[in-house]
Amino acid sequence: MPTIISVASGKGGVGKSMVVSNLGLLLARKGLRVILVDMDIGGANLHILFGMFHPPSTLTDFFSNQVTHLEDLAHPVSSPSRLRLIPGTGETLITANLQHAKKKRLIRHLHKLDADVILVDVGAGTSYHTLDFFLLADHFLAVATPDPTSVLDLYRFIKLAAIRKVLSAFLARDPVAESLLNKEFHSITEVLEAVGSTSESGVALAQKALQGFQPALILNRMTPKSRINTLHLKQLLKQYVGADLSVLGNIPEDPQVQQSILKYLPVVERSPQAAATLAFEEILENLLKHVRQREEVSETQVEPRKLRA
Ligand SMILES: Nc1ncnc2c1ncn2[C@@H]1O[C@H](COP(=O)(O)OP(=O)(O)OP(=O)(O)O)[C@@H](O)[C@H]1O
Ligand SMILES: [Mg+2]
Repeated sequence: MPTIISVASGKGGVGKSMVVSNLGLLLARKGLRVILVDMDIGGANLHILFGMFHPPSTLTDFFSNQVTHLEDLAHPVSSPSRLRLIPGTGETLITANLQHAKKKRLIRHLHKLDADVILVDVGAGTSYHTLDFFLLADHFLAVATPDPTSVLDLYRFIKLAAIRKVLSAFLARDPVAESLLNKEFHSITEVLEAVGSTSESGVALAQKALQGFQPALILNRMTPKSRINTLHLKQLLKQYVGADLSVLGNIPEDPQVQQSILKYLPVVERSPQAAATLAFEEILENLLKHVRQREEVSETQVEPRKLRA
């Protein structure tokens, strides 16, 4: 089974797709078979970052059953063809109202893809689809810029993702689920208290659902003046999730990133010496360490999945 890593941000335009394309390429260079999946429903554009203007098939074909196997949508984007991309879907009636069964089918097929790593670009926002696509992964990456609105949106995203994760442990009509839907929470402890006040036995279920939910951060577009906001973000998230979040690294504001996008190439490919490229190389090593550490912890809890690079 592949290791699935999802990448989210809450706010749009902060660099998720750029992070997905560059990390994907670096993981493939490590010898891993990588598939990037564009789950930014309505805003899919990951294929453009690789200069693929007219993808032969996209997730729309999968949702409309024109393509039976998700694997058939994985188009090579670099040679050697260890890096493949499943192009996303535009805003169609099917995707705007994505039925639960279609979402389940997509998630089922994702877990069966023939790859070592799957990187999922979940798009911006906090819709149920976005939260569910984020949460289907084994490991969670969150991208933010030092812009205060990005920090706030990321905080909101992680909060809602945590609540959605707890909700997934209960049936929709369960009193616990109903008690969580309309309340504003300021920490995971408050969420667990709310569960406990409705059902004592629910607390253990909720705690189990939250086990391993520890998104790691990537800070993008950093400048020498950006420190304060990111410290604030870390404090907020620590207070909410109750644990120190690992920061995998800081990507600087770098004009080479924009230049590479204009050339339809990841910056790590086009500008090997760019400051952003050096940052990505460090982030890759930290990501691999992060994944291995979590795999070691989960070995005692669930069936382990090994990522070897
Ligand atoms: N480190 C950086 N330095 C300079 N420019 C950057 C950097 N990171 C991102 N950008 C700029 O931000 C733009 C948006 O990046 P990207 O498309 O990856 O964001 P996104 O989060 O995927 O957006 P969306 O939510 O719309 O999918 C890029 O086209 C690029 O011009
Ligand atoms: Mg994007």
